[in-house]
Amino acid sequence: MSKIVLITGASSGMGLATSKYLANNNFIVYATSRDISKLSNLNKTNIIPLSMDITSQESINRAVDIIYNKHKRVDILINNAGYGLVSTIEDMDEDEMLNQYNVNVFGLLRVCKATIGIMRKQNSGIIINISSFLGKIGLPLLTLYNSSKYAVEGITDSLRHELKDFNIRVHSILPGFFDTQFARDNLVTNLQTFDENSAYANLVSKLTPIIIEQINNGNDAQEVALMILKIINNDKFPVRATVGDKAKKFLPMRKELSDEDFERRVRQYYNI
Ligand SMILES: NC(=O)c1ccc[n+]([C@@H]2O[C@H](COP(=O)([O-])OP(=O)(O)OC[C@H]3O[C@@H](n4cnc5c(N)ncnc54)[C@H](OP(=O)(O)O)[C@@H]3O)[C@@H](O)[C@H]2O)c1
Repeated sequence: MSKIVLITGASSGMGLATSKYLANNNFIVYATSRDISKLSNLNKTNIIPLSMDITSQESINRAVDIIYNKHKRVDILINNAGYGLVSTIEDMDEDEMLNQYNVNVFGLLRVCKATIGIMRKQNSGIIINISSFLGKIGLPLLTLYNSSKYAVEGITDSLRHELKDFNIRVHSILPGFFDTQFARDNLVTNLQTFDENSAYANLVSKLTPIIIEQINNGNDAQEVALMILKIINNDKFPVRATVGDKAKKFLPMRKELSDEDFERRVRQYYNI
């Protein structure tokens, strides 16, 4: 029997690549987006596009009900939707601050909330959270984004304890930089931070072109799709998986070095 997958943020990048790859591997994939028209090119037998706004519990529940009414189960949840705010703390406004966590952290929790009960009753399930290598590294201008991914790491580790008696596995994937729509469509910039007269203009002009260049020349999203299938197929897979060049460069260093030495290496590397 085909396993049932629910994935968020499936309209582009890692979500799109994963939806197609899992569908080709005999999974039934419920691929979600805020805008269902963006999923029209996904009309394959094993992929069912669904509208879902992860900032609304009602919208999530509606989508999960559709899946549950048809299959009476959800086998795999992939929390992938996310975006990045690029702003200093001084400049960010209340909405920018709240929205970053509303999507990357509370959005993920809302989708977990809607599906965990189903997995618990079926006594099986896999939750895979797409975090980031930046969930283990501090960077200026990305404080909100990076800390939201630190939160994803903490949620993943805590949920694993909470769900262990119900045969539900919880993993995170920490990708390095990947060439998706992320830098083009899903980096939100604060206007004051990017003003040429900003006190942070020097930092902005040094760091942001490097980050954008590294994302746009990053790894191929298909690598994430391959890793997700490996996690699904191997119940002994490590709880935290790294994928992509930048993650492989920085995360072992993070473990080996002291906080101070690691920070120095990050500053040297990004010239900040
Ligand atoms: N690209 C990278 O270098 C990189 C590195 C590490 C981690 N990541 C993480 O990987 C995940 C996938 O990103 P990607 O690289 O594949 O980027 P992408 O191609 O830009 O896709 C991002 C997806 O997230 C959804 N999304 C964006 N903003 C949203 C919002 N405000 N509310 C709800 N959904 C939203 C979008 O869905 P809709 O617009 O269709 O709703 C879109 O499908 C994200 O969590 C990202 O943080 C990316």
